[in-house]
Amino acid sequence: MTSPDKARYVQTMFGRISRRYDLMNRLMTFGQDQHWRKFAVRQAWVPAFGRVLDLATGTGDLALAVLDVRPSATVVGVDFALPMMQIGQLKLNNRPSRRIDFAGGDALQLPFDDDTFDTCLSAFMMRNVADVARAFREQRRVVRPGARVVCLEITQPATPLFRELFNIYFGRFVPAVGGIVSEGDAYTYLPASVQAFLTPPELARVMREAGLRDVVYYPLALGAVSVHVGTKTSEQ
Ligand SMILES: C[S@@+](CC[C@H](N)C(=O)[O-])C[C@H]1O[C@@H](n2cnc3c(N)ncnc32)[C@H](O)[C@@H]1O
Repeated sequence: MTSPDKARYVQTMFGRISRRYDLMNRLMTFGQDQHWRKFAVRQAWVPAFGRVLDLATGTGDLALAVLDVRPSATVVGVDFALPMMQIGQLKLNNRPSRRIDFAGGDALQLPFDDDTFDTCLSAFMMRNVADVARAFREQRRVVRPGARVVCLEITQPATPLFRELFNIYFGRFVPAVGGIVSEGDAYTYLPASVQAFLTPPELARVMREAGLRDVVYYPLALGAVSVHVGTKTSEQ
């Protein structure tokens, strides 16, 4: 798929599955996805009253996790699938003390000035972008020097046995459940996108090449998920 084709496909697909997206996340991960988001937020070092970018916010779960940890933060959630953010906006009706500033935008061309945010996080986005290096360069650009860029993503486990089990799970179970609960081919796209994605060390290398420093990653769920963290240093 060419870059514009992939972006259009991803945008349309998430628009279509938005109403069942959260339910599928909880089912697929046995409820673990919210713990992974909390872990990612803890790596971001969100300062009190900090300005946070939740990139590809979708239905806003990562943004809400930021506010659970740091209620004084200002959180901007950006995504190019507007129906996903509409679901996120509805969630806020039940949580009047929480506010997320949702905005339409493309991760490859962020509508923000340089050095705007105290941290930038993304969850389950990088697999979906057409140009991973450019997405990290954009994240690095919009955070202030000293800030962290945090990426939570599905990755293939390094251990052969776990990788085998993971591939059976994602290749068979997830599309079967997705076919019942959701619509279209989204949950066959998901395992294909995981298969095609970078390994955790490769992802760390791309982050370094994008100018991030002190890059580390934490495997979660036996390596089925990884949280990568990099820093924009002040001398860059
Ligand atoms: C798997 S969902 C993740 C949503 C949310 N971050 C979460 O934790 O559940 C991926 C999201 O990335 C968004 N996305 C993918 N590529 C994007 C891009 N280039 N610019 C903006 N959003 C993008 C999709 O629209 C979708 O909402």
